[in-house]
Amino acid sequence: MITFPDNFWWGAATSGPQSEGRFNKKHANVFDYHFEIEPTAFHNQVGPDTASNFYNSYQSDIKLMRQAGMNSLRTSIQWSRLIDDLETNTVNQEAVDFYNKVIDSQLAEGMTPVMNLHHFDLPVELYDKYGGWESKKVVELFAGFAKQCFQLFGDRVKHWATHNEPMVVVEGQYLFQFHYPNIVDGKKAVQVAYNLNLASALAIKEFKALNIPDGKIGTILNLTPTYAASEKAEDQEAARIAELWNNKLFLEPAIFGHFPHELEELLVKDNVMWKTTEAEAQVIKENTVDFLGVNYYHPNRVKAPDLAPDSVGAWMPDRYYDAYDMPGRRVNLDRGWEIYPEALYDIAINIRDNYKNIPWYVSENGMGVSNEERFKNQEGMIEDDYRIDFVKEHLTWLHKGIAEGSDCFGYHMWTPIDCWSWLNSYKNRYGFISNDIHTQIKTIKKSGHWFKTISDQNGWEEEA
Ligand code: GAL
Repeated sequence: MITFPDNFWWGAATSGPQSEGRFNKKHANVFDYHFEIEPTAFHNQVGPDTASNFYNSYQSDIKLMRQAGMNSLRTSIQWSRLIDDLETNTVNQEAVDFYNKVIDSQLAEGMTPVMNLHHFDLPVELYDKYGGWESKKVVELFAGFAKQCFQLFGDRVKHWATHNEPMVVVEGQYLFQFHYPNIVDGKKAVQVAYNLNLASALAIKEFKALNIPDGKIGTILNLTPTYAASEKAEDQEAARIAELWNNKLFLEPAIFGHFPHELEELLVKDNVMWKTTEAEAQVIKENTVDFLGVNYYHPNRVKAPDLAPDSVGAWMPDRYYDAYDMPGRRVNLDRGWEIYPEALYDIAINIRDNYKNIPWYVSENGMGVSNEERFKNQEGMIEDDYRIDFVKEHLTWLHKGIAEGSDCFGYHMWTPIDCWSWLNSYKNRYGFISNDIHTQIKTIKKSGHWFKTISDQNGWEEEA
C-alpha cells in the first residue's frame, strides 16, 4: 500500500469568483468589470456571471464533491460580495447568510472548510479610487475585511488563507498583461508585491488578536520551482534570481518574517526598491504563517538572458532570466504547460530543509483539458484517464517527499467542479466533476470516482 498520513486532506480547491456567479453581488471585482468592458478578451465571450452557479447550487454541489471522495474544500470569500460599504467594512447580510450556508453544508457532509480571502478578486472600486494593491490604504481595508471574515465564520472555519498566488496579481496586473488593468510597470509591480505581503501579515495580525480556538492561518503560493537550463554559471545565476523573485519574495516573509536580503540588494541597486516603514517591517516580522498552501502546475525552467541585464529601458524582473523550453519536455498540449511530477518531491524537500519543515499541503494541482466531451461514454461520464494518471504520478512523488520527512498534510486538486477560468473561461476543464455550462448539469468524471477510492483507502494498493 502507498499510504498517506492520518487525517490527510483529500480535496479540491475553487474560488468565489470562479464558481459562485455574480448573483446578488453589490460590487464588481476586477474580473467582473473587465468582462463588462471587454467581453472579447474572454474565451467565447463567456464571463463570470454564472460561473458554475455555486451561489444557487452549493448544496447539491457539495454533496457531489463528497461523493467524489473530498473530505475538504477550499473556496474563497469574495470581498466584493461580503462587504457592503468598502470604506467602513460593513457586511452584507445576504452574503453572510450565503457563506454561512456554504460552511454549514460542508460541515454537515463531514468536510473541512478552508477559506481564502483574496483570489485575484479586488473590488474594482478600490482600484479606481486608490490604485488597488499599489495603495497602503487598500492594504488596511483588506485587513478590515479579513477581520470581519474571522469574526463571522471563525467559530466553524479553522483553516484560513490570506491570498491565493499573490505573485499572479503582480505579474498579471503589473508586468505581463493578463489581469485587468494590464499595466506594464516594474517599479509598481515591486511595490504591489510588497503591499500584498504586508496585507497578508496584517490579516494574520487580526487573526491572532482574535485567538480563535484551534484556528490556523496560512497563505497560498504558486511555488513553481526554478530549474536552470544547465550547470553553466550564467544559467545558474539566472535561476538564482528567478527563484528570488518568483518564490522567495513571498515565501520568506510568510515563513521567516523578512524579505530575502539578496533580492532587496538587487532592487536597491536597480533603483526600484519598495517603500516601507519600520512599523510595517515589524508587522511582517511578527505575523508569519502557521501553514503553507502550495499550488503546483508546472516547473519554471530558465536560462541566462539573451540580453545583458544592464540593457537600457524600463525595469522588468525578467531582464535577469529567459524562459527555457527544454527539448523533450512532456507537455499538456491543451494548456501548454510542462508536466513534471518530480517537482512535488523537490518542493517537499525544499520546505523540509529550508523552510523550517513547516506544515504544508498541495493547495492546487491539476490539468486543464479542452473539449472533454470527446471522452464521454454512453452513460454520459467523461473517461479522463489522463487526469487519473496525472494525479497518481504527482501523488507518488509527493508520497516520497512525505516518507522522507516533509510535513505535508493534504492534497487538493484544482478543481472540484469544472469552473470558470481567468480569460480562458470554460476552454480548459480541470474538475473531478464535469459541468454542462448550458444546463448546469454536473456529473462525476471517471477521475472523481477514482479519487473516492483513493480517499477512502487513504492511498492505494501498489501494483505488483
Ligand atoms: C491557478 C489559479 C486558479 C486556477 C488555476 C488553473 O493559477 O489559482 O484560480 O485558475 O490556476 O487555471
